[in-house]
Amino acid sequence: MAETKKDCNVALFGAGFMGRAHSNAYLNVAKFFDLPVRPVMHTVCDILGADAFAANWGWQHASTDWRATAAADEVDLVDITTPNHQHAPVAVAALEAGKHVACEKPLAGTLDDARAMKQAADAHPDQRTHVWFSYRGCPALALARKMVRDGKIGRIFHVRAQYLQDWAGPDVPLLWRFKGTESGSGAHGDLNAHIVDACCFVTGEQITEVCGAIMETYIKRRVIPESEAGNIKGATVGDKIEYGDVTVDDAVSFLARLSGGGSASFEATRLAAGRKNANRIEINGEKGSLRWDFEDMNWLWYYNVEDDAERAGWQKIMCTDATAHPYVAAWWPDAHILGYEHGFVNLASTLLKNIGGAADAVEVPAPTFQDAYETQRVLEAAVLSAQNRSWIDLSDVK
Ligand SMILES: NC(=O)c1ccc[n+]([C@@H]2O[C@H](COP(=O)([O-])OP(=O)(O)OC[C@H]3O[C@@H](n4cnc5c(N)ncnc54)[C@H](O)[C@@H]3O)[C@@H](O)[C@H]2O)c1
Repeated sequence: MAETKKDCNVALFGAGFMGRAHSNAYLNVAKFFDLPVRPVMHTVCDILGADAFAANWGWQHASTDWRATAAADEVDLVDITTPNHQHAPVAVAALEAGKHVACEKPLAGTLDDARAMKQAADAHPDQRTHVWFSYRGCPALALARKMVRDGKIGRIFHVRAQYLQDWAGPDVPLLWRFKGTESGSGAHGDLNAHIVDACCFVTGEQITEVCGAIMETYIKRRVIPESEAGNIKGATVGDKIEYGDVTVDDAVSFLARLSGGGSASFEATRLAAGRKNANRIEINGEKGSLRWDFEDMNWLWYYNVEDDAERAGWQKIMCTDATAHPYVAAWWPDAHILGYEHGFVNLASTLLKNIGGAADAVEVPAPTFQDAYETQRVLEAAVLSAQNRSWIDLSDVK
């Protein structure tokens, strides 16, 4: 007789881009992975309404009331895909109501909010927390972590991480992503959060000091989307266009020291013309190097210093072998490659294994609120370094 699995009723907050990515993950995760609990798409909540979204993605209920949904008895897992300033209120309410909580990155828009979320998680240790640093769900990045742990590159000297996009030119209106009150920061929390997490995930090291941060807002005013003329792209001379101030960065770069003694550099921008989603990391160690680029996400590059000079060179590993590469056994035959959405499905499998008490079956760890709080401290240190033009010791950022 087939085993009956316990249901895990999910409530999703936010019916936007990430709401779609997570809905797709809940729809598919139990079809590909063997899970201890079955995700049930119970309620989707969006303050602007979610009826059509619920009907399209198969959510049983739609709501506009986040407080009631976060506290509803039937809900087991609260999943937050709202803009950053709403992460803390929803997460803290949900933890206090006894729910497991998953939240999009960055953990919050501000370090104060992130701390409140970590403290709420600390106060409810039997409830799981999870942060969607989705690139951990890419098999090639997870393989990089495994190879570092297996000693393939030895002591780490350098990490070079970049996250480059180009979508935020002057024609883009003043979305929530450009308002400090809603997002906390711009490219920094949006993109540097990912690569700081990737650095710590792959190397197993922490960032201990930050310096040399440069934070720039190149486009200081943008058209208000609600203004009479709407999007600036459609406006003509004489139209009444209202502009508002951009209160976040467009680009932030900084240097850091790692707990193992190595150095690291991070660069995030939304204004790198021609770079669409260039999330890249390179690690140089005493025995070799690894590099990965999300735009070629199924491949990991490896250089082994012990190879003979005659055949020394970068090896391009296609990370699609079910017998060898993380997550792949759940998917397709070898070389039938994965895409962006699989990262979310893979991380959803980790989340549901943790909730179902099958932590032993988790092959690649997902970050908790405590882990993501550490990333937020690094982001804050970079802001302080840029403001003060100084070195910031992480022990001074709490
Ligand atoms: N993991 C990733 O790679 C990745 C990619 C993009 C965005 N994100 C993160 O996901 C989050 C959302 O980004 P997005 O691009 O999906 O935004 P979005 O603007 O597409 O969608 C956000 C939705 O949340 C709704 N909302 C706002 N406050 C709410 C509340 N209190 N309760 C319920 N709904 C609420 C809005 O009405 C909107 O529909 C952000 O934190 C962002 O940083 C992560």
